[in-house]
Amino acid sequence: MEILRAGGSALDAVERGLRLCEDNLEDHYIGTSGLPNARGIVELDASIMIGSTRAFGAVAAVKNYPNPISIARKVLEELPQHSILVGEGAEDFAKYLGFPTADLITPESKALWLKQLESVNSESIEGENTKATSGDERYRLATLELLKRMAPHDGPWGTINIIAVDQSGELVCGVSTSGYPYKHPGRVGDSAIAGAGNYADIRYGAAACTGRGELAIRGGTARSVVENLRAGQDPQTACANALLDARSLLDDFRAELRCLSLTQDGRHGGAAGMEGSTYTLMTEHSTAPEFHPRRAI
Ligand code: GLY
Repeated sequence: MEILRAGGSALDAVERGLRLCEDNLEDHYIGTSGLPNARGIVELDASIMIGSTRAFGAVAAVKNYPNPISIARKVLEELPQHSILVGEGAEDFAKYLGFPTADLITPESKALWLKQLESVNSESIEGENTKATSGDERYRLATLELLKRMAPHDGPWGTINIIAVDQSGELVCGVSTSGYPYKHPGRVGDSAIAGAGNYADIRYGAAACTGRGELAIRGGTARSVVENLRAGQDPQTACANALLDARSLLDDFRAELRCLSLTQDGRHGGAAGMEGSTYTLMTEHSTAPEFHPRRAI
């Protein structure tokens, strides 16, 4: 908000806001201290999209770089021939640009990861599939069994979405996440995919998602919200209808999916699969963040 109130760009404001979240060690779903994948390694996804040009930059499955949103912005600005870099290629690009590296796992996030792994009863993973011949093979099969059975732990979890409009009228949407805890190494979620977890089109509005990324990928949910805005729906209805569409998909791993939306003229709304979910709004006149309910579908 300081950047926007000083007349700065929505691009700078979204990047800065997400960096603050990425650097918050108490948040275990984004940046440093994000919960790791099935191998115990933190892999981060992030993206940023500009509403006037629909330019999009993203990185996915990035290890050891604590601010993926800034690398995503550089993809947008310095690699216009591409939109998404993943894994080692994204890390090479970050290294070339001189981004600092860091150990992304903290003692607290590692302890949380282990606690949740240990909370799964080892007997529950003994089954047909785990009768493999070598220890290594059993380990890999057991990990897959764990992945299939692992539900998100209690308490808030998820990705951060920030959408901003600046004084020039530019509309920018950014998303950053450490993704689903215990994900398969290399798994890319909706946060790095245009149209799935992030979409911005200045003519109609922007939208972003949190929660079960595979549903947002399959449903094209962020783009679906923007298409609903284009059809004349208000942001809350546009979000609710996009979520209803995603909910119609069969999914054995179904978990909460949420979305929110903002238009260039300041209309906003959100929806979620459960009661009690909120999103936060600030305007040029706000003295504190306002919490708004999301429509439960
Ligand atoms: N929505 C974040 C993820 O699924 O990774």
